[in-house]
Amino acid sequence: MGYAERFAGLPLKDEPLILGIESSCDETAAAVIRGRRLLSDAVISSAAVQAEYGGVVPEIASRAHTDAIGAAVERAVAEAGVAPADLDAVAVTYGAGLLGALLVGLSFAKSYAYALGVPLIAVDHIRGHMAAAYLADPSLEPPFITLLASGGHTAVLYTESYTAFEILGSTRDDAAGEAFDKAARVLGLPYPGGPSVEKLAREGTPCVPLPKMFAGAGYDFSYSGLKTAVVNYCHTKEQKGEPYSRADVAASFQCAACDVLAERAAAAARAKNCRTVAAGGGVIANGYLRRKLADVCEKAGLRLVLPEKKYCTDNAAMIAAEGLVQYRARRFADLSVNACAHIPLGKKGKQ
Ligand code: KG4
Ligand code: ZN
Repeated sequence: MGYAERFAGLPLKDEPLILGIESSCDETAAAVIRGRRLLSDAVISSAAVQAEYGGVVPEIASRAHTDAIGAAVERAVAEAGVAPADLDAVAVTYGAGLLGALLVGLSFAKSYAYALGVPLIAVDHIRGHMAAAYLADPSLEPPFITLLASGGHTAVLYTESYTAFEILGSTRDDAAGEAFDKAARVLGLPYPGGPSVEKLAREGTPCVPLPKMFAGAGYDFSYSGLKTAVVNYCHTKEQKGEPYSRADVAASFQCAACDVLAERAAAAARAKNCRTVAAGGGVIANGYLRRKLADVCEKAGLRLVLPEKKYCTDNAAMIAAEGLVQYRARRFADLSVNACAHIPLGKKGKQ
């Protein structure tokens, strides 16, 4: 009998206690939720070490996870004020991400679930980002529009139910976070790029004439034209020996990169007759984008559900939140579940 099968007849609890584990990149994170209430959230980050190398070095990330995973889980369980034996399930990111890094969290979660005799739930990291909104507002229920903007994906989705969604539009090339990271590199800013661009943009004004981000039909968008425009602007100024304000470039890029996202999310809500827009992913931590979303939604009479900034970037609370969705759908994993470097978001249309 497979491990998942053992729980085929498990009586489900209304408010299960779920441990979430996340180790797909440079944060070792563990969190405990009871139903939709977050009880604890422990993060041990290797970002400072990675910053010395200008980006995430996979080998260093895996080793840092190995050092930190035990302490992160112990802390999350203790801060939740529960005992390991009280847990009803263990949810863990199985992809997408760095393979070695994922394997640390996944292997730990398998052993932990097996030792406790509770279901293991394998979570797609991106579904986790989308589920963060369920903790931000425990009254949130589908259907609603989700704006997803992370380092790997950028999309506007119609979240039809807890487990079914439709991709209305997505990026044709770079993800929003990638575009921020590339802009940061051109501007000579340190890793991680997104927060660095946001910080510098605060000192500038959006006066550099960059093309408005391409917004194709059907809610698609593209970042390549905007990226090239930033590179060309800086290089041309440098070649001519003309001074220019990096802060103004950062502010202009930030507006161009974010405005279309907010507008498209609101337009999708109108088209789908939804009253609510939720958002998730690292780029949603951007203060300018958050204000823009609030503004656009207020004007359109839409309710906006924004997770706190720390639950937009990688965290384990969101993995536990998606774990709850899977628990309620009885989607339990076998102990043979493996890590996946890439998990496609899916094709446009219903999933
Ligand atoms: O969602 P996330 O933490 O990881 C993925 O699942 O991809 O997103 C990371 C991305 C990076 O590209 C990072 O530069 C961007 O989110 N990001 C930001 C901000 N914080 C993180 N972009 C713009 N402004 C921010 N404050
Ligand atoms: Zn992420």
